[in-house]
Formats: sequence, C-alpha cells, structure tokens
Amino acid sequence: MFEIKYKDGAGRAGVFEVRGKKLETPYLFPVINPKRQVLDVKEIERLGFNGIITNSYIIYRDTALRQRALERGIHALLGFDGVVMTDSGSFQLYQYGSVEVSPSEIVRFQDEIGVDIGVILDIPTPPDVGYERAERELEETLTRAKEAARLSRKMLLAGTVQGSTYAELRERAASGIAALGFDVHAIGGVVPLMEEYRFADLARVILHSKLKLGHAKPVHLFGAGHPVIFAFASLLGCDLFDSASYALYARDGRYITARGTYKLEELHELPCSCEVCAEHSARELKGLEAEEREHLLAKHNLISCLEEIKRVRQAIYEGSLWELVEQRARAHPALLEALRVLKGYSAQLERLEPVTKRSAFFYSGMESLSRPAVARHIERLSWIERRGAELVLLPDCEKPYSRTYRLASSERYHVCIASPVFGVIPLEIEETYPLTQHEGVATLDREQLAFMRRVIAEYAQRFTKVHYHISLEFLGIEGEAFDEVSQFRFAGGEELKLRALADYQLGKGAGEALFAGARAEYSRRTGRIRRAFVDGELVATLRASDGIVVPTIAGAERLLRLRYPRCRVVVAEEARQFAKEGKSVFAKFVVDCDPELKAMQEVVVVDESDELLATGTALLSAEEMLEFERGIAVKPRHRRR
Ligand code: GUN
Ligand code: ZN
Repeated sequence: MFEIKYKDGAGRAGVFEVRGKKLETPYLFPVINPKRQVLDVKEIERLGFNGIITNSYIIYRDTALRQRALERGIHALLGFDGVVMTDSGSFQLYQYGSVEVSPSEIVRFQDEIGVDIGVILDIPTPPDVGYERAERELEETLTRAKEAARLSRKMLLAGTVQGSTYAELRERAASGIAALGFDVHAIGGVVPLMEEYRFADLARVILHSKLKLGHAKPVHLFGAGHPVIFAFASLLGCDLFDSASYALYARDGRYITARGTYKLEELHELPCSCEVCAEHSARELKGLEAEEREHLLAKHNLISCLEEIKRVRQAIYEGSLWELVEQRARAHPALLEALRVLKGYSAQLERLEPVTKRSAFFYSGMESLSRPAVARHIERLSWIERRGAELVLLPDCEKPYSRTYRLASSERYHVCIASPVFGVIPLEIEETYPLTQHEGVATLDREQLAFMRRVIAEYAQRFTKVHYHISLEFLGIEGEAFDEVSQFRFAGGEELKLRALADYQLGKGAGEALFAGARAEYSRRTGRIRRAFVDGELVATLRASDGIVVPTIAGAERLLRLRYPRCRVVVAEEARQFAKEGKSVFAKFVVDCDPELKAMQEVVVVDESDELLATGTALLSAEEMLEFERGIAVKPRHRRR
C-alpha cells in the first residue's frame, strides 16, 4: 500500500509498504546481478538501502541458481532481508529480441521464489519505431498484463506502460494498465531515451503515461538510474527508480555525479566527500588495480545516486523541487530542453501543485515563469473582485510593498506592483504565498519584460482607468503616468484586503461569503492582519508565515453558503464521528470534494448531508483524495463544538 506524506509539483514523498516492509519514496532500487556483484549486498544494505532489484530471468535460466532460489527463496539466495523486486526478462527481450520463457511462467516463477515485487513480461518497444509495431507490441503487452493480473500470487506485481514515443499509445497503455489493479505502475521502454540524453522525449513519455495512470499507485520508471534525472522524474510523479548504472559505469571507469558523468581520467579532483572520495584522491583511484577501482567506483556511484534521491525527498518536503529541477536543468542542455517541455503541460501540473510550501519561490531564470505557481497566480488574479476600481501600478521594491510605499488599496484605487516574477501583485494579497515568499533578480531579462507586458496588458483591461508610475514607462502600458506616489496614500482597506485574500485562495465569491462587513485585528508585533471578525464574531485567522486564511467554525459556516461542493471535503458516514471529534480525515473515507481543491488548501469538512463537522488543511489535491485508500486527506484544525 502506498501513502503520500508530502507533495511538491506533481511529485510525492511517501511510504510504500511492501509485505510489511517500508520503502521511503522516491526510492532507488540498486540493481543486483545474481551472477557477478561488484558491491556486496551487505555493503549496499549498510549504505541505507532496504530494497534491491534483481533479474528473475537470469536466475531462471541458470539451473543451479534456479534450484537454489526455488529451495531457499530469493532472500536467502541474495542474503538480503529487505524488499526484493525482480524484473521479468523484458530487458533481455529488448536486448536479444527473444526470451525462453512464457509470460505467465516467469510471473509464476517470481512468486515461487518469494519475490516481494514482481514484474510482468512486457515488451519494451524502443523509441521511434513505426506506429504499427508500437501498437501491436503494446496490445501484446496489455494481453500479457491481463493474464498476469489474473494469476493468484503472494507477491506484489508491477504492470508496465509501453507505447514507444507515441503520446496516444502511452495514454492508451496507461489506461489499460491502470484498469488491472496492479500494485505498481511501471513506465518502460525508456532506456534508449536515457542513453541518448533524449530527456525532452522522456518527459513527454512520463507526462502522457501519468495522465492516465491515476495517483494511488507508486510509479516505477524503469532503467532511469542516473542522478541527473531523479529530481526531474520525481517532479513529474515517478516514485521508484532502479539503477544498474552505478555498477555498469564503474566497470567502464566512469564516475557519477548529480551534474553528470566523468571518465576517471578526466578527474583532477573528486568532487565528493563520500567514504570512497574522502579516503582516496583522484590520482590514487586512477592508479588502483582494475578490480579494486571498479569496486570503489561502484560504491561512490551508488552513494552519489542515493545522495540525490535524499536531496529530492528533502526538496519535496520543503517545497523546493521546482528549484532543484531548474538547477539540475543547467547541468546539460538536454535537461533544459526537457524542462521547457513542461510549459506545454502547465494545466496538468497545476492541478497537483500545492498552494503553499515551507520554502520560498526562487526565480532561477526564464523557465521559472512557466512554473504552475505563476500560471495559477495569473488565473487567480481574475478571481479577485474589484469592480469599479482604477488600477495603479508601481515598480517592484522591497517587501512588504505596502510598508515601503506606505499605502494600501482603497475602494477607488486597486494598487498593484508590476512584478518581474508574477506580472502583477495586488497589494491586497502581497502577504500570501507565493508572493511574499519570492525572490527575483533586479535586472530584467528579455523574457521577463515580455511576460510583464503581456500579464499587465491583460490585467489592465479589467479596469476603466490605469495609472502607472513614470518609471514603468518601458512597459508601454496604456494609461496615465504619474510620479507622485503620495497622492494614492491610504491606510485602511482591511475588508478589501480580507476579501481579496479569500477570493484568491478559495475562489470567486469566497471573500463575499466569508468577509462581507469584516473588521481586522492587527498583530502589534508585525503590523499585519492577524484575525478577522464579522459582527463581533471571529471568522478567520491569517497565518503569519504565508498569509493563508484559516477559517474558524463560524467562518466555515459562512463558507458553506458557497454552492456545494465548493471548499468542502465530504466524509462517509462511518468516519463522521471521527471528523467531528477533530481527528484526521483519511483518504479512504472521502466520498466527495470540491474538484478544484488543491493540496495545502484550507477546507471545510462536512458529512453527506452537508452538515459542518470540522475544518482542516487538505494534504492532497481533489483527485488524489478521491483515489487514495491510504493516508491522511485532511489534517484537522477546528471542530464543531
Ligand atoms: N528495464 C528497462 N526497461 C524496461 C522495460 O521496459 N520493461 C521492463 N520490464 N524492464 C525494463
Ligand atoms: Zn564519492
């Protein structure tokens, strides 16, 4: 069973429980060669790996190995108690064109030798083959998948998505695989893309597969065992990886880093401090005998892979995975190309993007403008109701903007910052994620300029009159220039601000429902709004760290005026009492919810007759909480008294 703990982008950090053993995802399975292992399994275990992958077909084909595996089981054969996954011989199919075992025989064999996660004998169709071949082989893979899914078994089973480089076939394959109830969804046929650095094509393959795989099962990206791709593939929602590269590269005298691979001869320094690199200089490594060098290189390579996997997990936890991916994209233009592919899938990615994160939004170049958080911001600008106001545009400056300029938006003037990162930042919402917590650069590049012009021009159309600060002349805004900011000086507008925040965070009309006639209480320490009252009743608090509006029970009652199922998570009758007592709402008890709900959004928990039970924070997006059978969907905050 798979459970999400933290999310960032379309990536997830979670726990995959395999027959009582737990893997922390994203997880990397080191590939073990049952015949020739450079790194002892015990050594791999000591580095912190509690799952490995080996090849059942190699064992099956070797009479002695097969006998031992059948007698003693795979764990004893390998000397490993953790999770053992085995591949099926599909890779040999790809290499040699045929294998001498039937699809059901090899699945049965994996189960018989006590494997924890087996794989079907899918047909790994290479990239760019003719459409007919790709389709024919895919149909065969799906037929085998159906057969395998029917076999009774003790192990978990992975079904593989094929379809070559055809988006439509990948989607068809994913729909087919998703319908069969596998425990793991694998994406296959991508090794040549990895080898040829065709990361843009790899991105498309993953995106189209993910589109139809659903969310509830862990996704294994077969054969993507190099750290340059871990952050990227994780961002797109891959959870499991396997690496033979650590050993294959070592044999070739190649040294793996998250920035790329070096030939040992090229290295003057070892840019790493793992136990191998701490104890040896580059020159010493080069001078070693082949066997020892291979051993040490394999160890370094595997540590290097593990380090990047841990970095990815940390990035998901803190919400900096996009930043990590953008950094990695600078390691090779092919990765940058892949990053640019994501721009075309903004809507798909936005649905899974959390609404707030622990870490700040760091601008790292023009690609940052294509992040879902930016597209979302621009869409949500239109959710803010400012009928009849005039637009006032000011240049970017030190945050908080309203303090630097000593002004606020009023009924008449809707004051905004012309932002090189978000286009337009209304002062009403400046204190909310990702606007407060963002760092940009002062020198604009050409793309930012074009971006600002486009966003501002579009936004300005909503207003009868536009005033812009004279220093923004370079943006070519239609309107009236001014140079005296003080004419707009204004200190109130707290209801406007509250309503804009609610509209922006919870959707059109939320401001009216929650904050009509609201009064604000300010924090003496920060000078920011801390609590909001309507008719003397506390309806919401504002979280200091990210300006998120946290409704009280009274506030939640007001939000329920919004048409069903807006802002709601509906729990099944059997979980009603738990929710009412302020306990976590588990995903398996969620029967319905606001389809627009995003992870980290504040929600109202109701029962099936729309009666208010509690409030809380959604940890999953709408589609995820409806699909998952495991894990927490809503972390409780207030309960109805
Ligand atoms: N290893 C590398 N690629 C593949 C693939 O497409 N399918 C399977 N089963 N294993 C692989
Ligand atoms: Zn090292």
